[in-house]
Amino acid sequence: MIALPPLQIGHLRIDPPFILGGMGVRSSDHKLVSAVANCGMAGTIASVGLVRGECRGRAYIEESNAGLVEEIRLSRKLSNGIIGVNVMVALTNYDELVKTAVAEKVDYITSGAGLPLGLPALAKGSGVCLIPIVSSARAAEIVCNRWLNRDDCLPDAIIVEGALAGGHLGFNMEEVTGWGECTLQQVCSDVIKVAQKFEQKTGKHIPVIAAGGIFDGSDIARLFKIGVEGVQMATRFLATNECSLPDSCKQVIIDSKQEDMMIVKSPVGMPGRAVRNNLVESVNRGEKLPIRCPYHCLRTCNPSEASFCIAAALVSAHEGDHENGLIMAGRNAYRISEVVPVRQLVDELVSEALIGLSERQVLVSANESS
Ligand SMILES: Cc1cc2nc3c(=O)[nH]c(=O)nc-3n(C[C@H](O)[C@H](O)[C@H](O)COP(=O)(O)O)c2cc1C
Repeated sequence: MIALPPLQIGHLRIDPPFILGGMGVRSSDHKLVSAVANCGMAGTIASVGLVRGECRGRAYIEESNAGLVEEIRLSRKLSNGIIGVNVMVALTNYDELVKTAVAEKVDYITSGAGLPLGLPALAKGSGVCLIPIVSSARAAEIVCNRWLNRDDCLPDAIIVEGALAGGHLGFNMEEVTGWGECTLQQVCSDVIKVAQKFEQKTGKHIPVIAAGGIFDGSDIARLFKIGVEGVQMATRFLATNECSLPDSCKQVIIDSKQEDMMIVKSPVGMPGRAVRNNLVESVNRGEKLPIRCPYHCLRTCNPSEASFCIAAALVSAHEGDHENGLIMAGRNAYRISEVVPVRQLVDELVSEALIGLSERQVLVSANESS
């Protein structure tokens, strides 16, 4: 039997070689994470916004930690598979969330929305696999150099996230608009060269994982052919039965057209990608919506200047307000036509990728890989 090559990250064997991207607030919660992990994928819990109601300072930190512990434990209860946590560098409680994930012995931590230069020090000696998310070869090189020089370690894998991704994008507006269909392949090739350079220096292999706008198995096959060893996907998994995003928001995605895929200036200080609705249109008209900062979640946010509160907007979407909540999604979300079970989506992606991968050398027999 022919299978896709599993993704090996440190001691973790991910088969099929797909990672569910972290999706805040609560879109990649224990239900979705455990469902993908039960299919052999790696499931990433989004650590942002796991608080109920308003709280500040120490209370915010403690409630966020407690919310993350709850999500990790619920995921573990529902799956024996591979479960990790995403922590964005831009969060004010970054250190505490990383330490909580480490204390709960998650399998891996992904970290982007800024360069995760301090990550190894926070996870030292834990055995948790550390996976930075970058958007360029330059960023990959900076992270590898710093980790090696300061912490005597290298990333266990690197996720390359391109500008077609959902959520926050590590690019300026010009780069986002100039991004082509093949640019992700180019950036991944450049990051693979960086990874190879560090492998020659230290002997450590760093698998490169592609993310952003990957829609079907043919996209996956194209990326595997250039040496990518895994893919991270998020948007496709919003339209699954197991995703906690309310049905009304899933319907907005299903009804959307290409022209409804919008870029919005987020208080994170980066452009964000979301589906057109009242909120996105108001923000893009330059309106400043009333803000009552509930917890000061982002280092980069100045509530007196921000045009909207992203935490409140993401929570509103999670509560079903599909017009005034922020429905983040990748550039290819408009191609989604139905909500399906996770297992069906994963099986489809695997078989499409196998069709796309025609060269024998990238295929392994299931017997060889086990
Ligand atoms: C609804 C949504 C929420 C997201 N939230 C986060 C997040 O909290 N942290 C993060 O690092 N990336 C976040 N992302 C980015 C994804 O993890 C992923 O890398 C990216 O969306 C992949 O592109 P795709 O959605 O086209 O598959 C989010 C994406 C979406 C669609």
